[in-house]
Amino acid sequence: MTRLGCRCVAESVLENVRKETQAFIDKGNRAPSLAVVLVGSDPASQTYVRKKAEAAESLGFLHFQYTFDEDSKEDDILSLVGKLNEGEDVDGILVQLPLPSHISEKKIIDAISPEKDVDGFSPVNMGRLAIGEESFIPCTPKGIMRTLSYYGIETAGKKAVVIGRSNIVGKPMALLLMQKGIDATVTVCNTKTPDLREYTKDADIIIVATGHPGTIDSSYVKDGAAVIDVGVNRIKDETREKGFRLVGDADYSSFKDRDVMITPVPGGVGLMTVSMLMENTLEAAVKRRGR
Ligand code: GUN
Repeated sequence: MTRLGCRCVAESVLENVRKETQAFIDKGNRAPSLAVVLVGSDPASQTYVRKKAEAAESLGFLHFQYTFDEDSKEDDILSLVGKLNEGEDVDGILVQLPLPSHISEKKIIDAISPEKDVDGFSPVNMGRLAIGEESFIPCTPKGIMRTLSYYGIETAGKKAVVIGRSNIVGKPMALLLMQKGIDATVTVCNTKTPDLREYTKDADIIIVATGHPGTIDSSYVKDGAAVIDVGVNRIKDETREKGFRLVGDADYSSFKDRDVMITPVPGGVGLMTVSMLMENTLEAAVKRRGR
């Protein structure tokens, strides 16, 4: 097994963003700025938002955080998004998902100005990605593409299987892999696909993003393949200080004696999400007001 750790990949991205940010500021521009909106008190979302804030601050970005109670009104969040869209001092807007069930994610995402949509979730950016136009690319799939490239994993002419069809990962991932210049042959499966193994066993690249531990193990994967594990699942573990440990969607230990490349959890593509968000925020600032 070859472990495809992502810490070094993420650090090289952040180093580059830091340099480009300095060049942007040296030209007389104000630092890039990111507004992060968190609704409710989901512990995983709180952790993600904290990591995003820490990265933004370490790069010298301006950073605004807005925290709403779990029972907040949809209209109040829409009204904040409207203000952030208008705000001259805001380059990027991110509303952490998932939102509480009484709030329409669609309405909130639709309200974010495409020019500030650093998550790339808005219909305009998703549409642009689908037709191969320049757009903000969702951070996790973008980070996966960067990881494949960093490790020299060939995509052209290769069979890629994406397991999961979420708007955040599966769909944009499939679109990126099938893009001109990337040229993978892409199959998209989901948790209802009968006999998933039939699809994965011939794949050169498997992206597993179901949110279910044990979705695949080594019996699903051929020799020489690369497995990218997007899952971040909390499993109760009283032996840990926090009372849980993180596992991916793939059964990592089953690959131990196999000739397979695999991203670990933690230490895998989750790290890429934050660095790609920083890259997208700098891109938003440069596009909006770069001199
Ligand atoms: N929830 C899980 N991943 C993401 C992400 O990349 N962006 C946002 N906004 N919410 C998420």
